[in-house]
Amino acid sequence: MNPYQYKDGELHVEDVPLARIAAAIGTPCYVYSRAALTEAYAAYAQAFEARDHLVCYAVKANSNLAILDLFARLGSGFDIVSGGELKRVLAAGGDPAKVVFSGVGKSEEEIRAALQAGILCFNIESASELERVNRIAGALRMRAPISLRVNPDVDAGTHPYIATGLKQNKFGVAYADAPALYARARSLPHVTIEGVDCHIGSQLTDLAPIAEALGKIADLVARLERDGIELKHVDVGGGVGIRYQSETPPPISEYAAVVLKALRNDRHKLLFEPGRVLAGNAGLLLTRIEYLKQGEDRSFAVVDAAMNDLVRPALYDAWHDVLAVVQQSPAAPADVYDVVGPICETGDFLARARRLNAREGDLLAIMSAGAYGMSMASNYNTRPRAAEVMVDGGEYHVIRDREEVSDLIARERRLPS
Ligand code: LLP
Repeated sequence: MNPYQYKDGELHVEDVPLARIAAAIGTPCYVYSRAALTEAYAAYAQAFEARDHLVCYAVKANSNLAILDLFARLGSGFDIVSGGELKRVLAAGGDPAKVVFSGVGKSEEEIRAALQAGILCFNIESASELERVNRIAGALRMRAPISLRVNPDVDAGTHPYIATGLKQNKFGVAYADAPALYARARSLPHVTIEGVDCHIGSQLTDLAPIAEALGKIADLVARLERDGIELKHVDVGGGVGIRYQSETPPPISEYAAVVLKALRNDRHKLLFEPGRVLAGNAGLLLTRIEYLKQGEDRSFAVVDAAMNDLVRPALYDAWHDVLAVVQQSPAAPADVYDVVGPICETGDFLARARRLNAREGDLLAIMSAGAYGMSMASNYNTRPRAAEVMVDGGEYHVIRDREEVSDLIARERRLPS
């Protein structure tokens, strides 16, 4: 299903014209498709239906309560990386017993909150964290369910900022150290070993490193079982990548075949932490052209969205498609534009060198912005963050009001006189 179609020359999300949303809500505005989110989740669940499994949506990709609510209703669990994300999951009606907690820097307070909420598993990333979790669980007279996140030292072949499975990365415990750390965990009175976890990176478009990493994990699981350490689950980390431009990410069915082959032992439940593949192509950033500007060297479309709304182009040199909301408006001359925001940085671009028929005041859709868009937005340049809207068939719901400057300065104080 493609939720983005031109009907009578106007770009729609499902059955709602984007121009209608812009007129009612203003721009910039994130727009998501409920059908696309639902379909992406269903594809995952279906690919693994023959195997006991749990999808734990990676909250960091898009943490709006309505999105979490939707995934919770579809049966999803959640992968969280902070106490804040735990609060969001609970506020959205998510089941704490389906929550896994990842991340290298869990604070004492976060660990306590997660224990008290009754999460499914802590993905432990260091020897020190293991001791800390054991101590806090003991103080609460509880046992903490744990996995070790093991770093398999494989090159995921993705952008260096989002590759996590190499030994020089800060993530996980070294593969060679894992057996000794599991033995230590077994000796601790306040932890229960549940499984093993690995995550080698994001926007993965090649299955070979995934197969290699999971092969190593399967070997480790067999070795642990020989040592008498039984695991209940194997958590394979984040999902596959998506198509932004011309990437060819594997279809979920091929990914599933690789995972199921590497992890054949079906005594282990499989856990997945996909984020981007569930939300990325289910959302766009709607923006309006403020000015067209002829520079000496190139032309600029200055829009009302900026790097504070969508930082991926600035941070990773990421490519997002740009569509004119009114297709080929005949009065608009075609030119090649850099689509830039109002922020005072040369890095503030959303797209470069795109051929567009554009006039001042026209709407543009920055595509594939459903994951790591709003969740990475900031208030740089004192820009209130965008509104968010979820389209559902012929209706839409505002799922986050646009911020106001008063929200931004509410916690600040002038100096005493
Ligand atoms: N699990 C863990 C432990 C993770 O660190 C991540 C992503 C995921 C799951 C979800 O991975 P996914 O299925 O989305 O590939 N801001 C970057 C992406 C950062 C990914 C961080 N970790 C971007 O915009 O490309």
